[in-house]
Amino acid sequence: MDQFVIKGGNTLAGNIVISGAKNSALPLLAASLLAEGVVRLSNIPYLRDITTMIHLLTDMGVKVEIDESMIIELDNQRIANFSALYQLVKTMRASILVLGPLLARFGQAHVSLPGGCAIGARPVNIHLQGLQQLGASINVESGYIEAKAKRLRACRIVMEVVTVTGTENLMMAACLAQGTTLLENAACEPEVIDLANFLNKMGAKIQGAGTHIIEIEGVENLFATDYSVMPDRIETGTYLVAATMTGGQIQIQHTQPKALDAVLQKLKQAGATIDSGEDWISLDMQGQRPKAIDIVTAPYPAFPTDMQAQFAALNCIADGVATINETIFENRFMHMLELERLGADITINNHIAVIRGVNRLMGAPVMATDLRASAGLVLAGLVAEGETVIDRIYHIDRGYERIEDKLQQVGAEIYRKAS
Ligand code: EPU
Repeated sequence: MDQFVIKGGNTLAGNIVISGAKNSALPLLAASLLAEGVVRLSNIPYLRDITTMIHLLTDMGVKVEIDESMIIELDNQRIANFSALYQLVKTMRASILVLGPLLARFGQAHVSLPGGCAIGARPVNIHLQGLQQLGASINVESGYIEAKAKRLRACRIVMEVVTVTGTENLMMAACLAQGTTLLENAACEPEVIDLANFLNKMGAKIQGAGTHIIEIEGVENLFATDYSVMPDRIETGTYLVAATMTGGQIQIQHTQPKALDAVLQKLKQAGATIDSGEDWISLDMQGQRPKAIDIVTAPYPAFPTDMQAQFAALNCIADGVATINETIFENRFMHMLELERLGADITINNHIAVIRGVNRLMGAPVMATDLRASAGLVLAGLVAEGETVIDRIYHIDRGYERIEDKLQQVGAEIYRKAS
């Protein structure tokens, strides 16, 4: 298993170009199942989760061609099986995103239940209830979701909790349903909008994506198209926090500042000077130590849970005391215990962590437990004195494209070591 070795203490300065968004590319790849013909997706990030999704699709009979710049062509004219097997689904929960498209287009799906997760229970009941309301028959047997339907029938679905992939699954399914579906209490995340734009380009009739009520007028079929994945807002935020923690100065290119309002606001409160244009952000800390920043995670447009671990790392070395309240996932504090190994002062009470900023962290061996937790540990390693060795970095390879290369470009000392 590979490790990262980080020698902390460098002030970051320079440019970073952002990759396509993992959490948009995954639903887009799944949505390609809905189209008749060859779909062409660009700005796909080179990540382990993307490889897993491609593996799932090829297992079904989708012919996939990838060129050296990660432009992917998906030809789904010979789909022979409608299964997503446990061996793959257990490695990536977003596999559940094939359920809606398979059911809507082919009338059947056999998809493994995702099972447990390191950050919380993460059930898929809202996905299943919504599909049942659209007329599907659903049985869960031997760990698999067996879903069947003739043509799905539109209806009004009020989702009990705001769920990102739940909204995406139901929106994809409703595209081919008979009649007009209303999805209420829908997730407003930018990735939901990106998916709706892609589906509309394939001939779907979706309105209201990005608000809590999405209206989907069902069509008979969708056609293949080209589409470029939006930039990754969490990758963007992670590098901005890295620069803030090291007192540095950074320009982020090929990003979408509009999707990062809550994060940018917090970084300004931490003391950063931020400027932005259509697709770039610049941040300057002028060598200052960041101020402590309170965080409450909540669905978009509020502060994203996927940035919580990174801000936890920032607060460890900030001036002052901060409270982090994680309201989305019940077990997303595993990084706090690892941060303590670096010398952080953290008190946890259920889903609230109180972090007292210390003057310095000291390098130590630590272990990555999930994707964003690992990002938090990398950031802490960048400011810790001495050497930090992060184990199990396969977690970070799921969602950050060449993180060590991008950080090296702005002056960090971080190396990958095969162990
Ligand atoms: N929930 C239910 N029932 C459901 C679905 C969700 O109770 O049927 C609950 C979850 O347990 C959680 C809350 O609803 O407490 C929100 O979960 P959500 O369904 O929105 O999460 P998700 O769709 O599984 C996506 C991202 C996550 C991100 C969350 C929250 C993708 C592929 N994944 O997950 O990304 O943390 O939304 O924003 O889009 C990551 O990239 O590291 C990551 C975990």
